Amino acid sequence: MDERGGTILVTGGCGFIGTHLCHALVNAGQRVRVLDDLSTGRAGGIPEAAELIVGDVADPVAVGEAMAGVDGIVHLAAIASVARCNDDWVASHRTNLTGTLTIMAAARAAAPVPLPVVWASSAAIYGAARALPIGERTAPAPLSPYGADKLGGELHGAAAADLFGIANTALRFFNVYGPGQDPHSPYSGVISIFADRLSRGEGIRIDGDGGQTRDFVYVGDVVRALDTALDRLMRRRRLRREAAFDAVNVCTGRPVTIAVLAETLRALTGSRGSIAYGAPRPGDIRDSVGDASRMHRLLGLRAETRLEDGLRALIEARPAKVA
Ligand code: NAD
Ligand code: UD1
Repeated sequence: MDERGGTILVTGGCGFIGTHLCHALVNAGQRVRVLDDLSTGRAGGIPEAAELIVGDVADPVAVGEAMAGVDGIVHLAAIASVARCNDDWVASHRTNLTGTLTIMAAARAAAPVPLPVVWASSAAIYGAARALPIGERTAPAPLSPYGADKLGGELHGAAAADLFGIANTALRFFNVYGPGQDPHSPYSGVISIFADRLSRGEGIRIDGDGGQTRDFVYVGDVVRALDTALDRLMRRRRLRREAAFDAVNVCTGRPVTIAVLAETLRALTGSRGSIAYGAPRPGDIRDSVGDASRMHRLLGLRAETRLEDGLRALIEARPAKVA
């Protein structure tokens, strides 16, 4: 990031992951512009030094304005909830796939070499994996419109590299957690819900037997992956290297059961909130753990944050604790 200079466009920069990324970029002396429609993001979360354009990532005019004079793009804007995409199929398709294409088309228009794009894909493209850990060569089989649109973005991304010379890297995030994730939406992730309720001394409910596993990756590690991937593409662009598409898991490689997660959070918050068990969530995926070796090979990174440390950071960042 140090010698990079220039301006980075972050779409979805007002969201959970985007806000962390914008702070990291600004702290490193980078100029940052954000394009966000504020549908789930908060304008107040980004650093004052970041320029905000409120607009839609699927609107070519807004994207053209946001793209003027930038040197690299991190594209995070999306309807990020699987359940919300199910409820709002066509509108989420417009944001999640047309939005990605609109960004790539504008990147293509940059002269003389298309701009590099690092963007958020998802472990949701894999669906219910048959073999664990899930490597990037696993045949994608998304089970939701959300996963289908992320996969569609990757197919376009591969074609865009070959045909139009747009260097782009799709980072397949597994379950991201950390401070600033909204615990109150019906679409909130399990860690934000459990941490919020237990910190307030309230009980939590495990859907199913609690033996289902997830690969929880700390937002700070996700930010490092985004930053490193962009750095890599910008350096390759300066060296006039051939444009390529890459897809990379962003994960720890360590499975955690929901039951262990619940107990760990209960211990860390010192909460007396109860842990109840309910019916499994319809269509829930039993196991999800990624193979992190490609992230290490391509980006030289490992998701180092231990779960307890990440959870502690999340709990400490909460405004008040009433365990
Ligand atoms: P988020 O909802 O907090 O952030 C998304 C941001 O995009 C918000 O600020 C929102 O206002 C903005 N946005 C939505 N629609 C837009 C539009 N049409 N035009 C402009 N801006 C728009 O979600 P997040 O967790 O920060 O996710 C960031 C990215 O990472 C998304 O692409 C998501 O699909 C992906 N991802 C997240 C996870 C996770 O566990 N959080 C896992 C896999 C992939
Ligand atoms: C998550 C993401 C999704 C992403 C996918 C990648 C969220 C909200 N969803 O889905 O966007 O594409 O990973 O594979 O981040 N659970 C409970 N009790 C609760 C809440 C949840 O037991 O109160 C359980 C769920 O049933 C599930 C597990 O916790 O088994 C994880 O749920 P959740 O955090 O919603 O994430 P995913 O379903 O993995």
